[in-house]
This record gives sequence, C-alpha cells and structure tokens, in this order.
Amino acid sequence: MVFWPRSSIAKKFLNAVTGIGLALFVIVHLAENLLLLTGNPDDYNRWAHFLHSLGPLLTVLELGLAAFFLAHIWSALLVYWDKLKARPQGYRVYRSAGWTSRQTLSSQTMIYTGLTLLAFVIWHVVTFRFGPYYTVMVDGVEMRDLHRLVVEVFSDPINVALYVGVMVFLGFHLRHGFWSALQSLGAYHPRWTAVWYSGGVLVAIALAVGFIVIPIWVYLYL
Ligand code: HEM
Repeated sequence: MVFWPRSSIAKKFLNAVTGIGLALFVIVHLAENLLLLTGNPDDYNRWAHFLHSLGPLLTVLELGLAAFFLAHIWSALLVYWDKLKARPQGYRVYRSAGWTSRQTLSSQTMIYTGLTLLAFVIWHVVTFRFGPYYTVMVDGVEMRDLHRLVVEVFSDPINVALYVGVMVFLGFHLRHGFWSALQSLGAYHPRWTAVWYSGGVLVAIALAVGFIVIPIWVYLYL
C-alpha cells in the first residue's frame, strides 16, 4: 500500500524530513567535489573509486537517495496543491506577517526553484553518473577518470554559466527550506528561532558559493 499522508502536518513533516536528508547529501557532495581543488586529480578519482568499491552498499545508498528525492518532490507537490486549493487566486501583494512569517523571495519561489533543481539533477546525473567512462591508473589500480569528465564538462562556458545559475536557485531553495523544515518539525523557540534562521541563511549561502566556485575554478585553472 502506498503511504499517502492525508493531513497537511503529515505532508509537511515528510517534506521536512526528506528535505533535511537531501541537504545533508548536498553538504557531503560539496565536500567530495572540493577535492577537485586540491591540484591532484588522483584525490578526486580515488574518493569516487572508494565509493564505487562499496558495491551493493553504494547501490542501497543510491536507492535511498532516490527515494528521498521522490518523497520530497511528491510531498512538496501535495503541500503546494493544498495551498492552491485553499487560495486559488494567490495574493495580490506579498507582505510579511511578522517575524515568524518569513515571507521572502525564497519562500514564494520554492516550487519554481524546486522544479528547476529537479531538471538539473536529472541532467546532472545523466552527465556524470551515466556519462562517458574514461579510465586512469592510480596507485597501480585502474579506475574511472571522473576528474577528466568534470574538466571536459566545465571547459564549456555554457555549462559553467548554467551551473552558476542553478546554484543560485539552490541557495534560494535551501535558504527557505532550512527555515520551513525547522518550523514543520515544531522547532520554534522565542530566542533560538532567530539564531536557527540566520544559521540556515549562512549555510545556504556557503553551499551555493561552494558549488559556484567549483565550475568557475575548473574552467579557469584545470
Ligand atoms: C559543481 C558542482 C557539482 C559537481 C562537480 C558534481 C559532480 C558529480 C559527479 C562527478 C557525480 C558522479 C559521481 C559518481 O558517479 O561516482 C555526481 C553525482 C551526483 N550529483 Fe553532483 N556535482 C555537483 C553538484 C551537485 C548538486 C548541487 C546536486 C544536487 C542538488 C548534485 C546531485 C548529484 C546526485 C544526486 C548524484 C548521483 C549520486 C549517485 O548516484 O551516487 N550534484 N555529481
């Protein structure tokens, strides 16, 4: 039987938990990709090779990640649909209702930044995970030369520009996402809420900037 969250709280809860899981993946993924900046291509390829040497465990992790993506998109669409049903006309003017409302450009564009990220992730996974399989010898072991593929993709300025644009969207999505997830999980506190909110904004900016630096760096220096 398919799990079908009926109450709006259950939908938001599912969306929050899967969103936090995906944000953790994005943080780890940025750390992995910062290996591109070490100046030694072997560092990047060694790490990817290690991940693939996990075999069935990696498959389980990848399937789990895909399930999180699907549940996040699905619960987001359900929440969005409920909102449309409740207010089919939309607001004529957006104005924040105060400190706890957090009406911002990020909050109003979640569905658009989210759908853009979905299209991006499909394109991205096809490009890299299922892209050309170059090989290289590292420490006497033959492995996939992912470094070469990344350099090839980011030698095209159009790809670099597209990545930079999408990463700005990612920053906006995460900025509101962190805040919204904490609220959905009931983490409201008169004093600490402001700290969490500011922390969420900082993490979103750090992640977006980190991912923006990579394609530009690869284009300019590798
Ligand atoms: C400069 C930015 C990025 C670079 C250079 C990059 C690089 C890569 C590479 C090389 C892979 C293939 C890994 C492998 O086959 O072992 C990959 C997979 C993936 N990336 Fe990225 N990535 C970037 C940003 C992102 C962002 C922002 C997201 C999500 C919002 C993302 C989501 C994914 C996903 C879901 C996979 C598939 C993971 C798997 O199947 O194991 N990536 N990325």
